[in-house]
Amino acid sequence: MNFENILVEQKDNLAIITINRPSKLNALNKTTIEELHEAFKYLEENAKVIIITGSGEKAFVAGADISEFADYSIEEGAELARKGQEILFNFVQNLSIPVIAAVNGFALGGGLELAMASHFRVASSNAKMGLPEVSLGVIPGYGGTQRLPQLVRKGKAMEMIMTAGMISAEEAKDWGLVNYVVEQEELLPLCEKLANKIMRNSSVAISAVIKSVNANFETNVNGFNVEIEQFGESFGTNDFKEGTTAFLEKRKPNFE
Ligand code: COA
Repeated sequence: MNFENILVEQKDNLAIITINRPSKLNALNKTTIEELHEAFKYLEENAKVIIITGSGEKAFVAGADISEFADYSIEEGAELARKGQEILFNFVQNLSIPVIAAVNGFALGGGLELAMASHFRVASSNAKMGLPEVSLGVIPGYGGTQRLPQLVRKGKAMEMIMTAGMISAEEAKDWGLVNYVVEQEELLPLCEKLANKIMRNSSVAISAVIKSVNANFETNVNGFNVEIEQFGESFGTNDFKEGTTAFLEKRKPNFE
C-alpha cells in the first residue's frame, strides 16, 4: 500500500501504522485521515492486531491540522467533525480487530482523540497528552468530549478540557488514560509483545469482546444483552470447538 502521509508495515498478522508527517508533528490533515481510513479498512481483513504510532521521537499526533480548518464556516466545521468521526474515530473504535495506540510523544487534540478511539494505549515516558481546543476557540470534535470522561471520569475530563493543559505520561497512567509507560525505545517492543499475546487467542472471540465492551458505552443499547448474544454466538464458531477441544486434550489451541 502506497500512501503520502502514513507508513504501513506488516509482520505476519501484526500491522504497524505510522503517521508520517514529522515536520508537522504528524498533524491530521484531510489526506491523512482518508489514508488512515483506507489502511484500517484493508488491515481489518488482512491482519489480526494493529499498532498505531507517530513518526519521529517528538509526537504521536499534535492534533488536527489547524492550517486546514482556520477559515471554515459553521457548516464546514460540523462536516469536518462528522466525517472525521465516521471514517476514522468511530471506525477505529468499532474495528473488529484490536488497535493499540503507541503514544510516542505529543498526543494533542485529534491525536489524543485517535489514541482514545483505539482499544487501549501505551505511552513513552516523554509523551504529553491534552485536549487544547478551547485555547483555539473551538472544542474537541473527534469524540474527545465523550471518550475522555469515559476513560478518566467526568471531573478530570472537565479540568483537562477547560484548562487546555497537558498531562505527563505518568499522570495519564495514574488517571487510567494509558495502561503502561515505558522508555521510548521500549514502546514498540512492549506493544508488539502485547499484540503477540492477544494473537495467541481466538480472533473471533476478540472481535466479540470489542463489540460487547463497546456496547457498554452506547446509548440505548443494553450491553448485558449484547454480551449474552455474543457469548451465545461463540458456541457456533470453529474457534470455540478448537479452544475447548484443545483444553480437554491438554494441548495448545490452533485457531484459524
Ligand atoms: N496543526 C498544524 N500544524 C501543526 C500542528 C497542528 N495541530 N501542531 C504542530 N504543527 C506544526 C507547526 O506549525 C510547525 O510547523 P512549521 O515548522 O511549518 O511552522 C511544526 O508542526 C512544529 O511545531 P512547533 O509548534 O514549532 O513545535 P514546538 O515544539 O514548538 O511545539 C506543540 C509543539 C505541540 C506544543 C505545538 O506544535 C502546538 O501547540 N501544536 C498545536 C497543538 C494543538 O492545539 N492541537 C489541537 C488542534 S485542534
